Amino acid sequence: MRPIRRLGSWVTKMAMEPPFRIPTRRLLTLARANVRTRAFWDISPYPAYLFGILSAADSAQRQGVGQISVIEFGVAGGNGLVAMEREARAVELATGVRIQVFGFDMGQSGLPALIGDYRDSPEVWRQGDFPMDESRLRSRLSQRTVLILGNVRDTVDSFFDRYSPPPIGFISVDLDLYSSAKEALRILTLPTTRMLWHVPMYFDDITGIAVHRFAGELLAIQEFNDTNTAVKIDRWHGLGGGRPFPDQGYLGNIYIAHDLASISRARAERLPGLMRLSNS
Ligand SMILES: C[S@@+](CC[C@H](N)C(=O)[O-])C[C@H]1O[C@@H](n2cnc3c(N)ncnc32)[C@H](O)[C@@H]1O
Repeated sequence: MRPIRRLGSWVTKMAMEPPFRIPTRRLLTLARANVRTRAFWDISPYPAYLFGILSAADSAQRQGVGQISVIEFGVAGGNGLVAMEREARAVELATGVRIQVFGFDMGQSGLPALIGDYRDSPEVWRQGDFPMDESRLRSRLSQRTVLILGNVRDTVDSFFDRYSPPPIGFISVDLDLYSSAKEALRILTLPTTRMLWHVPMYFDDITGIAVHRFAGELLAIQEFNDTNTAVKIDRWHGLGGGRPFPDQGYLGNIYIAHDLASISRARAERLPGLMRLSNS
């Protein structure tokens, strides 16, 4: 390695170490770093969304797909959806992959009725929580984003027929209830489903004292995997490694839906023998 490059990589490594990583991130924020640098340094009001959308766009390019959908299940006031739209625009500009945004929510009525036992964590949530101010939210959104109001139990089935969306690239699940998350996950296994081979997913409600694998989103994920063979949801393994902030809480909330049926039919688009180790 040339001395200047070696010095550059040493400086980068030092910048990623505590205590230098915090001022470095501040400097990058002030310098309006590009979208890839922001994703690496978690510079975003919703870093999980930026990370997930950029990963999805990169996957789309590897798959030769020019357009993707990104979805937020559970919108409420809309801060998440507005951030999703903003990051989708930034990633689209950086990668050339076109990105449509969809938000599913009950709207003004807030959380629907709970199913009546521990699986919906009734000690935490109440019917009617998080009502949406629809007109205020719509005034904050652009045409890139479609708001789909109603219970996901009823709105998910017609999603692909009704909106002809490009393949799903990224999903955030923030519906709070086990019963709602279970309905939302059906979007991955409809006869009409179109998705990338590997769809990053962010699950918002899988940490805290009231969280366990017998309730909430963790139970919905487990039941999804128990009942489906074509698509499986698993954690994104080894995610923090090499990042300046491996301790960011959201990294533990990132999963991936793998389209096993399509992956079985896929072949790496490369001549044999081109993948080599640097010492071979
Ligand atoms: C915690 S809020 C979402 C917050 C939002 N993601 C953010 O970051 O600003 C949860 C939302 O999920 C919605 N929700 C829960 N169950 C639903 C269902 N079955 N169908 C549609 N929306 C549902 C509620 O209406 C509520 O607005």
